[in-house]
Amino acid sequence: MVLDSIARIIKVQLPAYLKKLPVPESVGGFVRLTVSEWLRLLPFLGVLALLGYLAVRPFLPKKKQQKDSLINLKIQKENPKVVNEINIEDLHLAKAAYCRCWRSKTFPVCDGSHNKHNELTGDNVGPLILKKKEV
Ligand code: FES
Repeated sequence: MVLDSIARIIKVQLPAYLKKLPVPESVGGFVRLTVSEWLRLLPFLGVLALLGYLAVRPFLPKKKQQKDSLINLKIQKENPKVVNEINIEDLHLAKAAYCRCWRSKTFPVCDGSHNKHNELTGDNVGPLILKKKEV
């Protein structure tokens, strides 16, 4: 029953529909089409455009995978929350840089990995720099 209907659509109704379409025989013929002819042609052209798009879509450049929706991709993933505590008294250097991009291999200290991340993603992250006041 279903196959019967499909066969009828393909063998009878579709050819009859296509035969009635006002397809011009040249490109210039499109200019001479009336509004009602264009309206009859538009659904068919829409289906052709959709099929064309679906055919070329696998070959179109894909958007870069946004696996970056997670901020922290690998640091202490076994912990439910990564917290780092640094005592101000322990800051012996005049300047210390702490990572805010979560890509540092020496986290929480910045190792410059943010530069590669920024280059790859167009992001603009950088470290938090703590400086001692010179007195
Ligand atoms: Fe993360 Fe520098 S490595 S901010």
